Amino acid sequence: MDLLPLFEWCEASWLGQLVRVSTWLFPVLESVHLLGLSLLGGVLLVVDLRLLNVMLRDQPVATLGRGLHPWLNRAVALMLSTGFLLFMSEAVKCYHSPAFRLKMATLPVALAFTYLVRQPVVLRDAPPHVWRARAVAAGSILLWLTVAASGRWIGFSS
Ligand code: HEM
Repeated sequence: MDLLPLFEWCEASWLGQLVRVSTWLFPVLESVHLLGLSLLGGVLLVVDLRLLNVMLRDQPVATLGRGLHPWLNRAVALMLSTGFLLFMSEAVKCYHSPAFRLKMATLPVALAFTYLVRQPVVLRDAPPHVWRARAVAAGSILLWLTVAASGRWIGFSS
């Protein structure tokens, strides 16, 4: 099923046009998207590097995981909402962008992995087995790096 008509509808919608015709809304949204990315990246990396025993070795994983969990949720909500608005303004460009397709294919996997695999491990009292900790950290870093890199790559799509 060709989704192009749906993407054309998104871009022509009042929300798409609102962001598209404004001289300042897109850059402001993209800046907030980037701010959200730095918060998301920071919250994820602190715990992933702890899981890899690279930093904060004296801190229990669960203490860091619980302290940062609300910020993880806030960062994800900020990224999804600003990303959606950016998308609406240039949906047809995104339709033709392999980078956008890679991002939209990886993002649900990254979210599912984070909330169904990683968070249960980092929120548990019992410290995770060293190999499970390393696998979870490596998976998290790899998935979110792919989402972020493909997000940056969209901007280079013509
Ligand atoms: C939590 C997940 C997300 C991450 C980590 C992420 C990451 C990024 C990054 C790094 C950029 C490049 C920003 C720049 O260099 O200025 C970007 C841009 C963008 N993202 Fe996201 N993003 C996320 C969610 C979303 C969602 C859910 C959508 C759409 C439904 C989306 C749509 C876009 C669009 C349209 C751009 C602008 C591309 C351009 O410059 O034309 N993002 N994203």
